[in-house]
Amino acid sequence: MKLPPRVRIVEVGPRDGLQNEPREVPTSIKIELIDRLADAGLPVIETTAFVSPRWVPQMADAPAVLTGIRRRPGTTYAALTPNLQGFDGAIAAGADEVAIFAAASEAFSQKNINCSIRESLKRFEPVLASASALEIRVRGYVSCVVGCPYTGAVDPAATAEIAGTLYDMGCYEVSLGDTIGIGTPASVSRMIEACARRVPIDRLAGHYHDTNGMAVANVLASLQLGMACFDASVAGLGGCPYAPGASGNVATEDLVFLLDGLDIETGVDLAELAATGAWISRAIDRPNGARAGRSFRGEPR
Ligand code: HMG
Ligand code: MG
Repeated sequence: MKLPPRVRIVEVGPRDGLQNEPREVPTSIKIELIDRLADAGLPVIETTAFVSPRWVPQMADAPAVLTGIRRRPGTTYAALTPNLQGFDGAIAAGADEVAIFAAASEAFSQKNINCSIRESLKRFEPVLASASALEIRVRGYVSCVVGCPYTGAVDPAATAEIAGTLYDMGCYEVSLGDTIGIGTPASVSRMIEACARRVPIDRLAGHYHDTNGMAVANVLASLQLGMACFDASVAGLGGCPYAPGASGNVATEDLVFLLDGLDIETGVDLAELAATGAWISRAIDRPNGARAGRSFRGEPR
């Protein structure tokens, strides 16, 4: 089995993990979470989202979060931006890079960002133009890459088309979101194979929610196809407010445990990461948070 020697992890816990929390999470806790994740060695942290506070109230403190963090040299601090208004806010608050987000399903696009897929791509044009002028890197997300909570299975060709369009528009990487965690190694592999015909595999990332416990299996299937970038959420926190029933991303602890076991380099300190997962689970009163009670000491070598 030939696997990539190194994997880049994009930690999305502070954004994807906390955007769905039923209770308000204090800004100071979000800031401490980001600082701890940076100290644990996560190279890229998606810190927050500059979206409408009416749509996602949990992200209303985005500017305070981004301006409040301690910046660790070498760490990239990213933010989610649905439009130019969000992009301008993210840049003013000091985001190093931004992410735009589209969907492979029309129904999800409408529910999530209140417009069609085509309209969303139009909205991204000025974001990409401003980002290019400021030399800010833009990452693209595609949601519902294998299935949609409203309309069911999604054709790999539809996902590949949106992924290819985002890449052609200037996204340096396209993250493939199994928003509702419905994918299995079979469907995820078919989807990646279709996308890799439009976008080089080293420009694709996996963003797998763990609703059905398939996320780690899907990561392994993706590694086998040469994918070397994965999004993950500490303690498996999260879900999407516009994807009913969806649970969090693959837990970063599980991802690092898998990659350590495969001798794939990540730069992440698993003990420090696990301590952070236990801490955030307590801090937001999720004593049974996905990974709170486990030690992650690693396999004997
Ligand atoms: P809209 O209502 O159609 O927007 O929402 P609008 O342009 O008509 O503006 C309406 C109001 O929103 C105006 O304010 C704007 O100023 C304000 P008003 O004049 O009424 O007071 N507004 C904003 N405020 C702050 N920041 C902004 C912004 N834009 C407009 N950037 C919009 C359209 C896209 C804004 C809205 O639908 C929205 O914010 N959606 C975000 C939904 C979201 O964050 N979902 C979760 C993240 S995506 C996800 O989790 C999936 C992912 O993880 C991958 C996966 O798992 O699949 C990435
Ligand atoms: Mg997500």
